[in-house]
Amino acid sequence: MSLLDNEAQLFFKTYKRLTLEVDRGDGCYLYTKDGKKYLDMFSGLAVNALGYNHPGIIAAIETQIRKYIHLSNFFVQGPQVELAERLLRLAKLQRIFFTNSGTEAIEGTIKLVRKWGKAKNKTTIFGMSNGFSGRTMGSLSIMDKEKYREDYGPFLENCGHVEFNNVGDLKAKVDDVTAAVFLEFVQGEGGVVPVSAEFVTALQSLREKHGFLVIADEIQSGIFRTGTLFAFQHYKFTPDIVTIAKPIGGGLPLGAILGNEKVAEVWTHGVHGTTFGGNPVACAAGIAVIDALTTNRMAGRINESSKYLFAQLDSLKNRFPIIKEVRGFGFMVGVELTVESGPLVDAMLEDGVLVNSTAGNVVRILPPLISGKKEIDILLKTFESTLTKNVQFV
Ligand SMILES: Cc1ncc(COP(=O)(O)O)c(C=O)c1O
Repeated sequence: MSLLDNEAQLFFKTYKRLTLEVDRGDGCYLYTKDGKKYLDMFSGLAVNALGYNHPGIIAAIETQIRKYIHLSNFFVQGPQVELAERLLRLAKLQRIFFTNSGTEAIEGTIKLVRKWGKAKNKTTIFGMSNGFSGRTMGSLSIMDKEKYREDYGPFLENCGHVEFNNVGDLKAKVDDVTAAVFLEFVQGEGGVVPVSAEFVTALQSLREKHGFLVIADEIQSGIFRTGTLFAFQHYKFTPDIVTIAKPIGGGLPLGAILGNEKVAEVWTHGVHGTTFGGNPVACAAGIAVIDALTTNRMAGRINESSKYLFAQLDSLKNRFPIIKEVRGFGFMVGVELTVESGPLVDAMLEDGVLVNSTAGNVVRILPPLISGKKEIDILLKTFESTLTKNVQFV
C-alpha cells in the first residue's frame, strides 16, 4: 500500500495531498522518492524562507538540542530572549509573546485587545473581508469567508468585518467602542491582494479619531517576504501590534505577538500562557533565520530579483491575455488569471515547478528568499512554456 493510501485510511480528511512523495529538500529544490527534482517556488507556504537544509538553521538546532529541548515557562531561556531582542529591535516595538503558530498569535492578540479595551469600554473587533487569520474559533470570528466558517458557529461576540479596501465601509463601521482592526497589508490566502494606500490613510485618521488598535497580520507577509521586514512598511503606517509566524522558526513551529507601548503593560503574571510557545530549539532556529536575512544584503537581493520577476511576468501578461493582473511585493506574488488557476499549477508541477493556486483564479508564487536569477528564470521559463503548450489556458 502506498503512503498516500495508508494515510487516507488513518487521517481525518482535512488535506488534499499532492501525489508526489518527497524524500528530501536542498536549497530551493525538492527531491522525490522516485528520483525527480522539483523547484519549490512555494516555500512550504512561506515557511522555508531560507530554503531546505540551510546550514545555519541546522547548526543552530543541533547546538540547542544538546543544551535543552524544552524547559517550561518557569525558566528564563536564552534563545527566547536573544530572538526577542532581534525582533523587537528590528520592528521598533516594545514587548513580545511567543506562540506555536499563526492562529495562536491571533487568538492571543484577541485576548490582549479585549483586556486592553475592557476599562475603556472598547469591545468591538474587526477583521477584513477576504482575509485569512487561521482555523481556530477566534480567528474564524474575524474572518468572513463561508468556505472556512461554515457549520462552525456560533463565533465570538462583538466581532465583525470591514470590506477590504472599502473606505466607506471602514468609516461606517469603526467608532469609539471599536477595540481593534486586524489587517493583512497583503492578503495572502485571499489572492495576494495588497491593501490600497487610500484605505491605509483612512485607517490612520480613524485610529487617531477613535483610538482603537491596529493589528498587522504579518504571518504570511512578514520577515522580508515582501522585500521589507514587514509588508506594512510599503505604506506610511505603523501598527500597534504585529503578529508573525510561518518563517520565523526556520521550519519549526513558532509565532509571536509584538506590541507597542500602548499594550506593553496589559498582560501581567498568569493572565496568558502556553506550554510550547517559544520553544528554545525553534527560537534558536529563528535567530539563525533573522541573522541570515539581516546580513548579506538579503533585502536588497530580494528586491533586485523581485524587480526582474515582476518585469518578466508583466511581459508575459502582455503576450498571454489569460493573465489578468500581476500583483504583490518582493517575493509575495499573485498572478490573477481569467480562468481557474488549478490546472495551470498542476501543469507546472508536471514540468517540475511547484507554485500554488489560491482564491480560485490566482497563481501564488512564494519563492524561498534565497532564490536567485537561476531559479527565477526556471520559474519564468516553465510558466511561459506551460501557457504556450496548454492551449486550454490561452
Ligand atoms: C495571514 C495569515 N494569518 C494567519 C494564518 C494562520 O497561521 P497558522 O496556519 O500558523 O495557524 C495564516 C496561515 O496561512 C496566514 O496566512
